[in-house]
Amino acid sequence: MAEPKENLQMEKIVSLCKRRGFIFQSSEIYGGINGFWDYGPLGAELKRNVKELWWNSMTRQRDDVAGLEATIIMSPAIWKASGHVDTFSDPMCDCKKCKKRFRADQLCEDQGLTLIKNADGKFALPEGTKCTSCDSKELTEPRPFNLMFKTYVGPVESEDNVAYLRPETAQAIFAQFKNVLETSRQKVPFGIGQIGKAFRNEVTPRNYTFRSREFEQMELEFFIKPDEAIEAIHGSVATVAAGHPGEPQPNWGWQAWHQYWVEERVRFYEGIGLSRETLGFHIQTKEELAHYARACTDILFKFPFSKKDEQGNVKGDELEGIAARSDFDLSQHQRFSGKPQHVFDDELRQAWAKLPKEKQDDLWRRYYENRKNYLTKSGVEAEAAAKQATDDANALAKGNYVPHVIEPSAGVDRLILALIANAYSETTKTDDKGKSETIYTMKFHPRVAPIKVGVLPLLKNKPDLVAKALAVRDLLRPWMNVYYDDGGSIGKRYARQDEAGTPFCVTIDFDTLGEKPELLDTVTLRYRDDGKQERLKISELRDWLLVKIR
Ligand code: GAP
Repeated sequence: MAEPKENLQMEKIVSLCKRRGFIFQSSEIYGGINGFWDYGPLGAELKRNVKELWWNSMTRQRDDVAGLEATIIMSPAIWKASGHVDTFSDPMCDCKKCKKRFRADQLCEDQGLTLIKNADGKFALPEGTKCTSCDSKELTEPRPFNLMFKTYVGPVESEDNVAYLRPETAQAIFAQFKNVLETSRQKVPFGIGQIGKAFRNEVTPRNYTFRSREFEQMELEFFIKPDEAIEAIHGSVATVAAGHPGEPQPNWGWQAWHQYWVEERVRFYEGIGLSRETLGFHIQTKEELAHYARACTDILFKFPFSKKDEQGNVKGDELEGIAARSDFDLSQHQRFSGKPQHVFDDELRQAWAKLPKEKQDDLWRRYYENRKNYLTKSGVEAEAAAKQATDDANALAKGNYVPHVIEPSAGVDRLILALIANAYSETTKTDDKGKSETIYTMKFHPRVAPIKVGVLPLLKNKPDLVAKALAVRDLLRPWMNVYYDDGGSIGKRYARQDEAGTPFCVTIDFDTLGEKPELLDTVTLRYRDDGKQERLKISELRDWLLVKIR
């Protein structure tokens, strides 16, 4: 199934990805399967690098984050508690004439219209909406379509055995919160990170890998104290100025932590070659936010298919969302599983005891209101909600609370597409005879580049050159992905590496072997982006490269 061609730039990118082995259509020999993509040799390396960089920066390089690797299929009760069974759906409608199926919001958006949401939560198409395939205005009313893939566990295909492929990795983190807390010796504030597959039966997968049905996520759930606890311990909750707020501080509330994670994530993207100019931001409005969310900032990337606004500016499409989700998730799992998800904080207990009565009452009341609000919005009947909220506020006074959470949630595949689109560069070279040739260079940041260095003997029929080149390859191989290439002219080999996005090539020539004695055991190092060359000692090569690629 061919992906509709969005624009020329995307066509070129898709073509290069196939030609050079970054991305293939899944099941291509059987005509493909819509919304599923495979990563070829270069794509697999690129993806691995991106995930490793995320994992390193988010878990290993920090004292306050632990990792998790959970199963894809989990108890269906998890998806009931999270709200996915009841509400994880997109509005879908069909053209009665040509039978084409649409995501109703996208169909409207493509025509400059906005899907109507009625007070009862039901959707309606605005006047004038037509089928973008056959122009008919005979469309069915939008109806919700749950995006979770269903399957059965065990041999019997009955309702009792229904299970879902996870639509996000986040829920496993909440479900394992207590186990991680108890085994990792962490204390709130701390986070749990996970990378893994997620599945969504998207109504209309589109824009190449951007909206797929099988994809990977890199998610962090960062657990923090409720603001009332911070205020009790520190007297007030810190306010932070715009920009990166610096090293985390004990008096940070959800706002400072949210801003911190937005800025940390932008730094991550900058560190792998996506400059601020290529990114955009969408701060969700009150209407867009889920009832329990305090804030959500989406980090966008300006993809070739990203639409322009009326002023001709490209805002971009979502790479990652950073949400302040209050204590909703753990509270839901506490209610649905009946297993307590609160933590005990002795610092809070001690601080609370020393507070003046008015302050205690004020904090108690605010916490009570927040808990009651969450409970009633989640469908708990008013009296029961008030009783539970009273218990929760009393528990707070004794040092117990359900942690709040900041969730930076990124898609691996969208990031890969962003990196590919960002790296893609073409120039046209015309020779003396007027013959033109297009030169493609993938200008990946060395940290993410699939191949870090190409090792090339100047000639393949000179055993001494080959032996030396193989020795250089073997010297570097334990440390990085090296590509040894002895086929064709040196110019052709450089061009091949440029197209693969290899940032450096080293050539082993006769000077390496000592033809000019002062150059013995040195190599020519060539830079991908400007073709500049310099001479480097083999003994210094590994460390020189490691600085660039880490
Ligand atoms: N736990 C929160 C969550 O899943 P989301 O905004 O639905 O939030 C997070 O997804 C990220 O996952 C998105 O920013 C995007 O990068 C990626 N993602 C979501 N749906 C996707 C899809 N159909 N195809 C590719 N990536 C997707």
